[in-house]
Amino acid sequence: MIKGKVITLGVPGGIAVYKVADLASKLTGLGATVNTIMTGSATEFVKPVTFQVLTKNPVHTDLFSSSAEHKIPHIELAASADLFLIAPATANIIGKIAAGIGDDLLSTSVLAANCPVLICPAMNVKMYSNPIVQANISKLKEYDFHFVEPEQGLVACGDYGKGRLSDSSTIIYAIEQLLGQAKDMSGLRVLITAGGTREAIDPVRYISNRSSGKMGYALAQAVNSRGGQAILISTPTCLEIPLGVEGIIVESAMEMRDAVLKHYPHCQIIIKAAAVADYRCESVFSEKLKKDGESLTLKLIKNPDILAELGCSKREDQTLVGFAAETQFLDQNAKKKLISKKLDLLVANDVSIPGSGFGSDSNRVKLFYSDGMVEELPLLSKLIVANKIIDAVKNIRSKR
Ligand code: PMT
Repeated sequence: MIKGKVITLGVPGGIAVYKVADLASKLTGLGATVNTIMTGSATEFVKPVTFQVLTKNPVHTDLFSSSAEHKIPHIELAASADLFLIAPATANIIGKIAAGIGDDLLSTSVLAANCPVLICPAMNVKMYSNPIVQANISKLKEYDFHFVEPEQGLVACGDYGKGRLSDSSTIIYAIEQLLGQAKDMSGLRVLITAGGTREAIDPVRYISNRSSGKMGYALAQAVNSRGGQAILISTPTCLEIPLGVEGIIVESAMEMRDAVLKHYPHCQIIIKAAAVADYRCESVFSEKLKKDGESLTLKLIKNPDILAELGCSKREDQTLVGFAAETQFLDQNAKKKLISKKLDLLVANDVSIPGSGFGSDSNRVKLFYSDGMVEELPLLSKLIVANKIIDAVKNIRSKR
């Protein structure tokens, strides 16, 4: 899908420019023609010749320079592109585009673009979470600009949080989606659960688990960008419901069950990525518990297994996907859950592997199909894993 496409790569000035050089090289390797525009500050981090050599194309830095090839560079670099990619997108370039400012070659070219624009932010954690920057991002999303969110991690200044340029495989996947824009999920309603349920102890305390919701949200985003209607039933998380996705927030396993059972009959595909508590407190204290005694005993009772319930009432036209979070005996436990819950597909993750499972931006999963087939995937970003799961579901449905 990337082969033969023209990508105008806008490079603003940020420490992650060196990673974008690698991205430019990979895109060129995949057969794209990459035309690079660097801002003055980008050239302070990496010299234009680096991009020139890696993309085998001249690099553009000046609004007023023209060549035999480009008489009016900002118009021609925009007009020739199948996709306009901006990485690492700084608060400055995001703000300029949102305000419609064109005061250098990159900002004028973006304003002149008539193709999908993909923006990959990377900046200091506090800058990224600044409400002004977030408002600019929301505004650009309304104007149909596409974003690959930064990853969580240690950023150059030593802060920890969201701000690191996303992994190049995630950016390349997003580019493929935009260029191919396969709307192969259109007409399908997909129910997705996400996050860890909260089982109340008293009005201020609850029992929960380490699920961040990232896997479920990535699934909703993937369904949505492939033209499907995602209904995301999630516990409270730090994540934003992706644009175009119907979000329903629940707390406990019992609330999740009610919401799932309500929407289940109207969906063709159900993917249960949520980490549902197996037990809840038999009685919830009506007032905040005081630390009176040396110990406290809570009696827990079993929650209904929502997924198993769905398996029992599954219709012919429905496809049921479960997850399994395991720390040992992955294959045996996965196969047992696949059969006992009457699933079409089970996604098993070994949550003891670093960078995989709870909280991380990536996941390493094994897909167990009801016909006995097993597919092992490498460590990938959760968005790519989500798309692979959707590919698998499409495959299962096409064989019916
Ligand atoms: O949210 P993240 O931080 O991104 O992490 C992702 C994840 C690790 C939570 C996700 O990839 C995952 O593995 N989700 C399932 C976790 C889990 O609860 O696994 P389980 O083996 O306990 O449950 C098996 C399946 O039954 C799951 O699909 C679960 O949603 C479902 N279940 C479990 C118990 C219950 N009472 N009702 C259910 O429906």
